[in-house]
Amino acid sequence: PSGRGKRVCMAKLIIVSNRLPFSVHEAEDGSFAIRQNVGGLATAIGPYHAAHRNCVWVGWSGDDPERYSDEQVESIRAAYESKRCTALFLSAEQIAGFYSGFSNDTLWPLFHDFSHEAVFDAKTWEKYQEVNRLFAEAVAPVAQPGDTVWIQDYHLMLLPGLLRERCPGVSIGWFLHVPFPSPEIFRSLPWSREILNGVLGADLLGFHTVDFVNNFKACVKTLLGLDSGDDGRIALEDGRAATVDAFPIGIDYNLYRRTSHSSLAKAMRRGIEEVSGKRPGLRYNTSLSAEGSAAQEASSRSGSWWSHHADEEMPELNLARSAAAVDRAKPNKIVVSVDRLDYTKGIPERLRAFGRLLERYPEWTGHVTYYLLATPSRESVETYQRLKAQVDQLVGEINGRYSLLAWTPIHYITRSLPIKPVCGIYAAGDVALVTPLRDGMNLVAKEYLACHDDRDGALVLSDMCGAARELTEAFIVNPYDIDKTCEALHDALEIDATEARRRNRAMQARLKARTAGTWCAGFLDALHQVADPSLADRRL
Ligand code: ADP
Ligand code: F6P
Repeated sequence: PSGRGKRVCMAKLIIVSNRLPFSVHEAEDGSFAIRQNVGGLATAIGPYHAAHRNCVWVGWSGDDPERYSDEQVESIRAAYESKRCTALFLSAEQIAGFYSGFSNDTLWPLFHDFSHEAVFDAKTWEKYQEVNRLFAEAVAPVAQPGDTVWIQDYHLMLLPGLLRERCPGVSIGWFLHVPFPSPEIFRSLPWSREILNGVLGADLLGFHTVDFVNNFKACVKTLLGLDSGDDGRIALEDGRAATVDAFPIGIDYNLYRRTSHSSLAKAMRRGIEEVSGKRPGLRYNTSLSAEGSAAQEASSRSGSWWSHHADEEMPELNLARSAAAVDRAKPNKIVVSVDRLDYTKGIPERLRAFGRLLERYPEWTGHVTYYLLATPSRESVETYQRLKAQVDQLVGEINGRYSLLAWTPIHYITRSLPIKPVCGIYAAGDVALVTPLRDGMNLVAKEYLACHDDRDGALVLSDMCGAARELTEAFIVNPYDIDKTCEALHDALEIDATEARRRNRAMQARLKARTAGTWCAGFLDALHQVADPSLADRRL
């Protein structure tokens, strides 16, 4: 699996995660179609899995099998198998307890420093153990000595220990895609020791940043009394050792750069630029450029309702009239963001900062349009339902307060879009607002920069995510500080193109050097160095 020779095909790499990189959807004719999943894990490791034929992926089907007949379940299973994925089917009760419950209502908030949202419930803990055992039973029979099992994320923290007992001669790695909290927070989990002992079944434990590694080491010391060496080795009571280290995840830079030039992405970008008045087209253009004036005239000639009535009766609602009070030569700008609708992403705070910009700098009226792509996620969890209602309301309030007849400040899209239109949105953005309250890495910030390869465009980035450790030339903000985020957004909108390119080039060079592919290979190489050396022959 490390890609070092021909015999590599003999040994397998088994990736195990809660969610597979694809989901299967029933089409109208009853057949099952496969769709790429959204989320950092799927986008980072999916291409590696696709490119390596000796790599299989085991994960949950993402669906409740009771919705389907036995025959349909078999069709779903076969659709996954065609993509080298083994789907596990969980019951509704297991999904509620393991996924919505312990994973997303306990570990997710705790690990993101939202401990006030964490629910501690012995029943969901029981389901978490049950489903981790189920994964172990699915993986153990296929993992042969010499194989490598790479377990992903917080859903499967007991699995390394369970496989260690069942699979002698197998190298086991585990990577956490989210932050790891400090001992002060982690120790409040009633089952913290069981979780630590479970995950220490791995040979190598990876985190996004050195801070998360240090938090983990501190938890192991505080809760298990075990020391870690400077090389990250933790000597365990059973005579084994586990190693911890930081592996900041990257993106497939060329894929995003290329995709931003695809015809669909370009069409999307053009459409957004027209709607926001950046290029002549649909909108009543406020620009005084020759093109803009022509578009404005054309718009008036076409006899729009507002050109007949609003000028006389509601001048304050007319873009050209109200913009006349401010700087009509100001170029129109586009702000973008792309997220799962998750409370850790700081979407309400970001909306408040955008609203404050319109309040504090009225010259942006009609000149800045925000494309907010936020796809609902984990809808069975109450916190997420509340967040959706809050975001809907805030978008409505800002649009209601500031809209003009031919300008809507926020375009709010809640559908999940495939990569091409997403890249079109990134490419259209003069500014990307990436302001999570807490995030392990955040790939969106990196994808935006890849879609601005050799171009200007400014990134406003939260200091609370792993990406801020690498993307230091961005406009770094504390996402809780609405005033400062508003000021950073203003500065980013005003940045000179040469300066924007200079900053981007420095960040892009780092992203090109550390991609998702080098990340996968780097983790696996490190795993094979620390795992049982007697297995080396079988792996090569
Ligand atoms: P997380 O893993 O918490 O969702 P990341 O920023 O690390 O956050 O990764 C998100 C990934 O999912 C990125 O590859 C991004 O392009 C994709 N993504 C996020 N939200 C959407 C969306 N609304 N529509 C399409 N793709 C999305
Ligand atoms: O990156 C964290 C993560 O939980 C991934 O494991 C997952 O793929 C992504 O967020 C999306 O979450 P979910 O699988 O719960 O929809």
